Amino acid sequence: MILDGHAPAAIDEAARRLAAGELVAFPTETVYGLGADADSGRAVAGIFTAKGRPSDHPLIVHVTGPDAAGHYAHDIPPVAQRLMQAFWPGPLTVILPRRAGRAEAAAGGQGSIGLRCPSHPVAQALLRACGNLQPPLTGLAAPSANRFGRVSPTTALHVQHEFGETLCILDGGACEVGIESAIVDCTRGVPVLLRPGVLTHARIEAACGERLWRPEEVTEPAPRASGTLESHYAPQARVRLMDAAALQDALDVLGAQASGIAVWSRAPLRSAAPGVLRQAMPQHADDAARELFAVLRAFDDAGVRLIWIEQPPDTSEWAGVLDRLRRAAA
Ligand code: TXA
Ligand code: MG
Repeated sequence: MILDGHAPAAIDEAARRLAAGELVAFPTETVYGLGADADSGRAVAGIFTAKGRPSDHPLIVHVTGPDAAGHYAHDIPPVAQRLMQAFWPGPLTVILPRRAGRAEAAAGGQGSIGLRCPSHPVAQALLRACGNLQPPLTGLAAPSANRFGRVSPTTALHVQHEFGETLCILDGGACEVGIESAIVDCTRGVPVLLRPGVLTHARIEAACGERLWRPEEVTEPAPRASGTLESHYAPQARVRLMDAAALQDALDVLGAQASGIAVWSRAPLRSAAPGVLRQAMPQHADDAARELFAVLRAFDDAGVRLIWIEQPPDTSEWAGVLDRLRRAAA
């Protein structure tokens, strides 16, 4: 059932359900999350079951701000403090050393915990309402509200499409950012950007006040994590990334047989068969991020066989979008 997330009564009902150990999906500025009380192993187990996600993949825990981070994390390094200061509330997750006994199931048994403070007003209202319950819920574990390996949801209807009518979903409109938060691991002595988002490497590095590393530059193995699997965010149709010229050539070769193909490209097509479904990719990376998952879902809904996407530039602005597209195509 979909509730209006801007209605106070809906927020209260969602908080009550979460306290009772139920799952509630809620909007964040990045994507919709499938939430549960982060301190309840039983509630968190429900997330893994609903998603079909391996239970050793850690989930992100959503909190009201840096003050609540201390409930889950200890020895928070100065670089993490600076990141929270700079980007919270907003689309950045920090990985911190986890307090023993806290959010064990949400952390997938890791000694670390991923924390994020979302800026979406409905997410904020929900977290506040949870914090005001007796006893309070401090954090909500929430992965993207899609089945394992599938395209992340950016509207309430996308979530309902994934999990059906019985799940309680707070509707907060279409997500502004559109791709998941950037994740910075602050447990390795140096900050490591595990997952790119819309915040650029340079912006995050500036806030760190020290060099921001890429995962391949540090030697210790990262924990298993769904967002870092090679193949993820996959629609039903096969996805291919091509540069604009190759894409046009391929369409020319197929000619009238190019039906059942969807194209998402920045360059306009010189020619395309009538059966080709084309959507224009926005010129700016932030706009493309906002549309990305909805476009993939719309192509699937249209029943296409193939999705051909113009490879965006390999620049820092496009890193988050390019990362999701590569995994969708893997
Ligand atoms: O934008 C987002 O971050 C969305 C919205 C709902 O907030 N959430 C999200 O959560 O993407 P999820 O659970 O799908 O992403 C979890 C990812 C893991 O795949 C892993 O990459 C990383 O977060 N992660 C979480 N906890 C971690 C930990 N303790 N150590 C390393 N990575 C962790
Ligand atoms: Mg996900």
